Amino acid sequence: MDRFAPVELPSRDALYAPVASIMAREDWEERFAADIEAILRLKCERNAVILAHNYQTPEIFHCVSDMRGDSLALAREAQDTEASVIVMAGVEFMAETAKLMNPGKTVLIPDDRAGCSLADSITAENVRALKAAHPGVPVITYVNSSAAVKAETDVCCTSGNARKVVETVAREWGVDRVIMIPDEFLARNVRNETGIEMITWPGHCEVHEKFTPQEIRQYRRMHPGVVVLAHPECPPEVVAEADYSGSTAGMMQFVAEKRPGKALLVTECSMSDNLAALFPATQFVRPCNLCPHMKRITLPAIRNALETMTRAVEIPDALIPAARRSVERMLDIR
Ligand code: 13P
Ligand code: SF4
Repeated sequence: MDRFAPVELPSRDALYAPVASIMAREDWEERFAADIEAILRLKCERNAVILAHNYQTPEIFHCVSDMRGDSLALAREAQDTEASVIVMAGVEFMAETAKLMNPGKTVLIPDDRAGCSLADSITAENVRALKAAHPGVPVITYVNSSAAVKAETDVCCTSGNARKVVETVAREWGVDRVIMIPDEFLARNVRNETGIEMITWPGHCEVHEKFTPQEIRQYRRMHPGVVVLAHPECPPEVVAEADYSGSTAGMMQFVAEKRPGKALLVTECSMSDNLAALFPATQFVRPCNLCPHMKRITLPAIRNALETMTRAVEIPDALIPAARRSVERMLDIR
């Protein structure tokens, strides 16, 4: 499009509407409105899309993003988008996955300190050592990992498809055990669901590892009738206390379908904020933990990324084919 054509923005009433039930108009005007309008203009000028993870704050999630979802949905969207620039409102591994699917496009991460304790827990060398110790055992890696680790992987998975990926790999490879890394709790939760033996790695999500079964029981006593939804990155003892366990998109779908009166989302804080805006009839009980990495992404950081076109994600050419193949194999499993 013409870079200098004036961009027609929706009215402020329309921009505010999606968050009207969860934040005061005055506050939104003062803190967010100017950045939101600047970002919407820049997106048109740059032919950019913003992909936002479900843990992004409501003013990002509801007011500037083009597509929202869990890690799986973001990977699929990155594979399909026709925009020239992808801004990842999420963390580094999500931006890397988008880049793997679009090596020729510009993928921006608005703050390059937005890492992940799971991705940081394991190196490519660690994976090579595991493979050497367990020859012939397929390696299934959570997408919360670096491109270098993905390049050592047979098939990736997310929390949204982990069970399906493990069952498919076990069936197609004719094996009854897999190497599942780096999230030990996700692997143990999938083992409990499938009975398939897992060789695990002691990586944990710093947000979900903090929840305890005692805490969940206490919330149930304080809020009789509350429906508990736990992310599978939580310890298995916590998942055992829940009524439902699934990815962030799975939790959203559960609330959309069942419309519980009271829900407790055992996960990152913004998830409840974002769902509260969509489902005002549900009361969200919030024992949440903040992800410091997700919270690095702010409206000013997104605006700056689009103004300066930084920081563009780069992946060494030598890693791209193998890392991309492990993500593509995952996306082929429906
Ligand atoms: P999902 O949104 O894929 O469930 O993942 C949660 C997460 O921790 C991403 O960082
Ligand atoms: Fe990583 Fe956990 Fe933060 Fe997700 S919530 S980015 S898994 S540290």
